[in-house]
Amino acid sequence: MGVKVRLTAIEEIPENGSFLFTVREHDGTREEVILVRGEGCIEAWKNFCQHETDQRLDRGFGAAMRDGEIICPKHGSMFDACSGHCDNGKAAGSTLVPVDVTVDDGAVYLTDDECTFLHEGGIEDDDGMPGSSSHLTF
Ligand code: FES
Repeated sequence: MGVKVRLTAIEEIPENGSFLFTVREHDGTREEVILVRGEGCIEAWKNFCQHETDQRLDRGFGAAMRDGEIICPKHGSMFDACSGHCDNGKAAGSTLVPVDVTVDDGAVYLTDDECTFLHEGGIEDDDGMPGSSSHLTF
């Protein structure tokens, strides 16, 4: 079991947007993750589209969401916020990469053994190096 890290209170997750945070993966790279509220769920997904994986869903000001779906800002494919699945547009047939979170007593915790919480916000919020997922500094 990994360490359970508190991410945020449920009410802090925007209804139509996302709570962005950064994790470190087992191989040492950093990855952005979005925490979203779907229709009856709270889920976390790695912050990139499945059509073009360098396309972020949340570009630093919240992912676009409508009717429980996350909308890719580039070509407009919509991913179900609860299942991560896309059945439309350029990303049709794909599913976002999940990150395990647990809801407990009004708060959301990161419970994914594959990654470690680093900080709230995107990768560049830490060191001003946009997209520098292999740039490892503290
Ligand atoms: S990059 Fe997301 S749908 Fe094309």
